[in-house]
Amino acid sequence: MYNIAIDGPAGAGKSTIAKQVARRNGYIYVDTGAMYRAMALFLLENQISPEEPEKISEKCREADISIVYENGEQVVLLNGRNVNGLIRTEEVSNMASASSVNGDVRKKLVELQQKLAEKSDVVMDGRDIGTCVLPNADLKIYLTASTGVRAKRRYDEMAARGEKCDIDVIKADIEERDYRDMHRDISPLKQADDAIFMDSSDMTIEEVVGKILELCAG
Ligand code: DC
Repeated sequence: MYNIAIDGPAGAGKSTIAKQVARRNGYIYVDTGAMYRAMALFLLENQISPEEPEKISEKCREADISIVYENGEQVVLLNGRNVNGLIRTEEVSNMASASSVNGDVRKKLVELQQKLAEKSDVVMDGRDIGTCVLPNADLKIYLTASTGVRAKRRYDEMAARGEKCDIDVIKADIEERDYRDMHRDISPLKQADDAIFMDSSDMTIEEVVGKILELCAG
């Protein structure tokens, strides 16, 4: 199996790029953030707050999260229900960042991610793919961009969906989430020693995709 790991902070363009690389190579795209988001949705629906680690550890056992593909798109199933339309809100983003510090949540989702990569050629994106989930990945990319550029991208995405948003709030959220993702005890976001660093601030999507395809071929 050929496994590509793409890690980096929120809004660096990981999912857009990973999807295109997967499509061009005929691989499966695995968005691990969507799994953490589905878990966060489950916890929110059960009125659990980020400040209740014991309840999170206990309740997460009841969440059956799986991934299926429909017309080439990843669909996340939470206890059999398609939750793709419910996991992109700021509330779920913040809960996902907070609940993903929990060791029981991570153990459950990492096992699922490793199984997917054993069965298929994958492009998997997240925070700990190169460091923990797929330490032997064939190609590892650490993709980042400046905070200002990432906030602007998030703003444009939300505005395009017709959602009300404030760029300063988005920027503050991104900074808070980066801090939490990079400083948690278990599997913090960091560049793997053997990952290739890419800053997409001044690159187009096509340029980043082209560079990764070259690296796969080379
Ligand atoms: O990539 P994203 O914004 O959809 O991820 C949502 C949250 O999930 C993010 O704040 C951190 C967490 N996450 C993680 O801890 N490990 C991963 N492999 C992917 C996401």
